[in-house]
Amino acid sequence: MSERTQVGIVGAGPAGLLLSHLLALQGIESVLVENRSRAYCEARQRAGLLEAGTVQLLRSSGLGHRLDSEGLEHGGIYLQFAGERHHLDFLDLTGGRWVTIYAQTEIVKDLIQARLAAGAAIEFEVSDTEVAGLDGDRPVLRYTDSAGQRHGVTCDAIAGCDGFHGICRPAMAARTKVAVAEREYPYAWLGILAMVPPSTDELIYSRHENGFALHSMRSPQVSRLYLQVPAGEDIAGWSDDRIWSELQLRFAVPGWDLKEGPIADKAITPMRSFVASPMQFRRLFLAGDAAHIVPPTGAKGLNLAIADVAVLARALTSLLQDGSTKLADAYSDSCLERVWRATHFSWWMTSMLHVDPSRDPFGDALQLSQLRYVTNSRAAATTLAENYTGYEN
Ligand code: FAD
Ligand code: PHB
Repeated sequence: MSERTQVGIVGAGPAGLLLSHLLALQGIESVLVENRSRAYCEARQRAGLLEAGTVQLLRSSGLGHRLDSEGLEHGGIYLQFAGERHHLDFLDLTGGRWVTIYAQTEIVKDLIQARLAAGAAIEFEVSDTEVAGLDGDRPVLRYTDSAGQRHGVTCDAIAGCDGFHGICRPAMAARTKVAVAEREYPYAWLGILAMVPPSTDELIYSRHENGFALHSMRSPQVSRLYLQVPAGEDIAGWSDDRIWSELQLRFAVPGWDLKEGPIADKAITPMRSFVASPMQFRRLFLAGDAAHIVPPTGAKGLNLAIADVAVLARALTSLLQDGSTKLADAYSDSCLERVWRATHFSWWMTSMLHVDPSRDPFGDALQLSQLRYVTNSRAAATTLAENYTGYEN
């Protein structure tokens, strides 16, 4: 079947869904295709921490209702090392900036509901997605729908919001030179969702001799915790008891207790930094994890994906409504500046807090010295706070 739309969007993660929503607010029509089911997209456990700029954007585009009533505002974090826990007060350090805990699963649910209520075209469970005609001004999005019908949608532009393993970045690389800068880390994160109230008011980032641990949360009833494990680790080796005893060890400080509860979800995520550039070739634009990945230590991935599509929605509106290519041509450079700042910050947080398998006394002493500096120097603490709380869109 051959069809027509203004913007073809690949991927119903936060980037693709928000882009389709922002374009609709400008009167621009899109077709969004996703190879997973709606239930899968809504349940996939991932990010949880939003910068103030991300919250403002969601709010100003009419998506703030549940976020405002259920989101938890945090004005700082704890950094733990050498058996001591230190508080960093972001509100004080940055002149009033904060972050919000609101799960990616909830953002995805809010977006899908808003798009479907507006009568949007979202196709879940598609297969064999392809992007073609990339050398001209009318690229084509092809896919097979869940009933087995093949479609070819002629578009004015295509947005590749299909994550790290998607098809849009390889399609771009087949047409033009795409430079890749990357780093793999020799460790991974084992993340759990635990049905127990958080044992802390704000997130705890802990560097322990056995490795890094993070105590985050999803709500006043649900905790989210992470443990550094070796790269390539098999989750089968981690019983619930083993996970809790390792968490107890890595968070222990005198006079504080970590509450345990049933584990509802557990998974291991590899860690990498990856930046592809440029993020645009003619009428194909990459956004979010399709173009860049950061290790989760700085909590930047979702925020970057949302910042990309805010810029992209403006560029596509100007391209399709005024025929101006100025913002579209500037898209890649304007995103990459923020992407590289977040890439540096995420790498720095990761290197400061994780225990490298090839550690030596020199590296250990540098890490501890850096952690002491961040907790003792207002200038160093402000650098962390400024990066953590986010950048202007
Ligand atoms: P994705 O969410 O990956 O969405 C891409 C979509 O495209 C998927 O639904 C996929 O199924 C679909 N797709 C792929 N290929 C195709 C195809 N061929 N056809 C159709 N559809 C396709 N970030 C933060 O900012 N803060 C945090 O606290 C944080 N914590 C994290 C913790 C963990 C454990 C992990 C794994 C990530 C975390 N992140 C965090 C990162 C964040 O989750 C990602 O950066 C975010 O999901 C990126 O959104 P996206 O829409 O670009 O990509
Ligand atoms: C999360 O809540 O999932 C989370 C929070 C902060 C991070 C990473 C993940 O740095």
